[in-house]
Amino acid sequence: MFRLVRTADGSYTLYNEKWGDYYHSLDGAFSESQYVFIEQGFIKEHLQKATSLHIIEVGLGLGFNLLATLQCCEGWNGTLLYEAWEPEPVPSDWLKAVWEKSHFSHPVLNAIVEKVPLFTTPNITIRFHWKPWRQGSIDYKVDRIFYDLFAPRTCKSLWERPFLYACECLNPQGMLLTYSITGTLRRLLESHGFAFVTPKGFGKKRQMLRVYGKQP
Ligand SMILES: C[S@@+](CC[C@H](N)C(=O)[O-])C[C@H]1O[C@@H](n2cnc3c(N)ncnc32)[C@H](O)[C@@H]1O
Repeated sequence: MFRLVRTADGSYTLYNEKWGDYYHSLDGAFSESQYVFIEQGFIKEHLQKATSLHIIEVGLGLGFNLLATLQCCEGWNGTLLYEAWEPEPVPSDWLKAVWEKSHFSHPVLNAIVEKVPLFTTPNITIRFHWKPWRQGSIDYKVDRIFYDLFAPRTCKSLWERPFLYACECLNPQGMLLTYSITGTLRRLLESHGFAFVTPKGFGKKRQMLRVYGKQP
């Protein structure tokens, strides 16, 4: 059902045979998380001026985006609230194999393996929602959304209404990041009045997507 794959930066990812897709770019799995979500999400810049950060991740997968966020927040005195949605957690043996081969270790990884609902430290709260992201999942606005599902060709409907709904959950300074952009997504965003840009994508990808929260 899964295949372990080494990527260009030395970190490992999985190929999921059911979805027919990889969890990350083969050009560098952890580097992709750092580029698309941390760098292009201006997380460092946010930490320099804010005392709190609320992130939603749609598609926790192997936890790379969470690890990259925790790494970026090291030494910051503010409070992080990270909420991740994942309806099909990867079996623990596969998770452990990926993390071990990639030389990752962090107490939060145990929380993922044990599928706990909550992991906390004095200034970090991580809520795991072991169910699908859908319209109505939350009733508040957030600073960042990491929309990291498998590609639209494998799960088209998740890039329609649930995607638009995610954009609606951004606060006015908020940003949604995702690794890809299609003509359909572009038209959807335009027809619903969202401002967005398409920076250079990670690795061989030409473009990625950053959507901005609607102004009041
Ligand atoms: C590209 S992988 C995510 C990689 C992950 N963000 C990481 O850093 O390792 C896509 C993930 O989306 C999950 N997924 C599928 N349908 C979903 C849904 N409706 N809501 C949330 N996640 C979903 C899949 O199970 C898979 O783990």
